[in-house]
Amino acid sequence: MNTKKSQLSDSIIFRPPKTDDGKYFWEIAKASKTLDVNSIYHYLIMCRHFGKTCLAAEKQGRVVGFITAYIPPGSPDTVFVWQVAVDEKERGQGLGVQMLVTLFKKLKILNIKHLDATITPSNQASIKLFMAVARELKSSFEFEKEFFPAVNFGENIHEPEILFHIGPEFSLTL
Ligand SMILES: CC(C)(COP(=O)(O)OP(=O)(O)OC[C@H]1O[C@@H](n2cnc3c(N)ncnc32)[C@H](O)[C@@H]1OP(=O)(O)O)[C@@H](O)C(=O)NCCC(=O)NCCS
Repeated sequence: MNTKKSQLSDSIIFRPPKTDDGKYFWEIAKASKTLDVNSIYHYLIMCRHFGKTCLAAEKQGRVVGFITAYIPPGSPDTVFVWQVAVDEKERGQGLGVQMLVTLFKKLKILNIKHLDATITPSNQASIKLFMAVARELKSSFEFEKEFFPAVNFGENIHEPEILFHIGPEFSLTL
């Protein structure tokens, strides 16, 4: 067990989201000031239609972290992480990594072997997070091409989104 994992409070549980969690996901995304904030409707849909590939972290009845993710059309062995966020008060204890690792353990039964996510070059926390996940899963990883070049967003609006790929070999016997 790594040090950060052992710092995680026993009172945090990981579970599939309920539809009702969508509004809490939205609140955490909004408070992060880093993520592109989607509508509440988007988070409700993710919880309702994509709940199998999403995750809520709950502490004493409060949602303190979330992952929204889906299996992309045409890539049945890949999970694409759309957003991951942890309530500011709960950061730095390994919760982000454990949420992602937990989701993978669960998705093994769906034959998921790859994790994809996109990262903006300035988001150091996000880069470190996904590298830590690859390390925890004892898996190779690579930065691939620009998934969405900056021009896709319009002029001077958004950084490029770089594809971060983990897999295919996962060691899930943690
Ligand atoms: C990114 C985020 C989910 C990390 O959550 P967390 O629970 O604090 O992450 P962990 O404690 O599991 O740390 C994972 C790794 O990221 C690193 N890290 C976490 N926050 C960091 C920061 N602000 N700056 C640099 N590195 C950071 C940790 O040091 C650790 O790396 P290490 O094991 O090599 O030391 C959290 O900071 C967050 O919600 N940020 C806002 C939303 C966001 O940017 N999401 C990612 C893009 S979708």
